[in-house]
Amino acid sequence: MRFSTTSAILSLPLLAVADVPDYQAQFQNYMGQAQSYLGNFASKIPHPNKHDPVAAAAAKAGSLNLDILSLNTWKDTLYGPVKPESTTPEEWWVLITGGNKTCFGHCGQIEAAFNETAGKWAVTPGAPHTALLNCEDQPVLCNAWSAPVGALWIFEMLPEPAPINIWTKRLNMTTATSDDIVALQKEGFKDSAKLHDGFFHPFNGPLAKYGAATPVGYVLWGFNLLPSWAFMILVSIFSRTMMSNRMNQADGGRGVQGGPRPPAVGQAAPRR
Ligand SMILES: *[C@@H]1O[C@H](CO)[C@@H](O)[C@H](O)[C@H]1NC(C)=O
Ligand SMILES: *[C@@H]1O[C@H](CO)[C@@H](O)[C@H](O)[C@H]1NC(C)=O
Ligand SMILES: *[C@@H]1O[C@H](CO)[C@@H](O)[C@H](O)[C@H]1NC(C)=O
Repeated sequence: MRFSTTSAILSLPLLAVADVPDYQAQFQNYMGQAQSYLGNFASKIPHPNKHDPVAAAAAKAGSLNLDILSLNTWKDTLYGPVKPESTTPEEWWVLITGGNKTCFGHCGQIEAAFNETAGKWAVTPGAPHTALLNCEDQPVLCNAWSAPVGALWIFEMLPEPAPINIWTKRLNMTTATSDDIVALQKEGFKDSAKLHDGFFHPFNGPLAKYGAATPVGYVLWGFNLLPSWAFMILVSIFSRTMMSNRMNQADGGRGVQGGPRPPAVGQAAPRR
């Protein structure tokens, strides 16, 4: 009785809010406070998918003819120039880059060299397509691909559903120049680059095939965000839960405290 009265009284102002302008203002005020609190909290979390379509369009239209990859657009971008009946792959050269947090500020040299190369290739017929993946802006995508910063990923794009070859090449991040990248392309990269393979392959890997790459990317990214002590607490809670479940099972369901034993299903259960 008491509960329903209380809740009825409590709910009255809420119901009234809809009609009374005074309450409405008050309610808006509370909502505003809650929103700014949440907004403040959310702004402290790094953005999992920061993509500026205007800047990306400018980079594409500019003299570099460079695409900026993002979680939502990378696939369409890479498949973009592929003709449905094509049998020769369209080559994409993608630099995995980052900023102060993801690359400790060491990606500047290699990114400048790559940009310069993109500018040269933009005016060279038959040159590869170029794109940047910035792990500072796209942490989830980088995690989903398990892509290391400072690496060059060369995609050989064929029409769907053909498997896609990806070649990865580490460049010297302090010394690499545009000439090095141009020479690598001219002389053929397949001798020195590594054919990408395995779990995290963005097209052929099992994660990609089962559509799990992006969720896994979020999970890995989330773990990266956790301070290490928080991670340790989680692991400890998890292992304790596992342990006590194990003990309960080994105990025949009696529990560690030795409480009254529940009747075993089947045998001791009273017959009807
Ligand atoms: C990266 O770090 C350098 C040196 O610490 C600093 O000058 C620069 O402003 C930082 N860049 C960003 C985007 O935070
Ligand atoms: C490379 O080009 C992209 C796109 O125009 C730009 O956002 C980035 O700042 C450039 N990087 C360097 C190091 O110049
Ligand atoms: C990059 O080049 C510099 C200068 O040649 C060299 O000292 C350094 O060891 C190289 N780094 C890697 C990772 O190969």
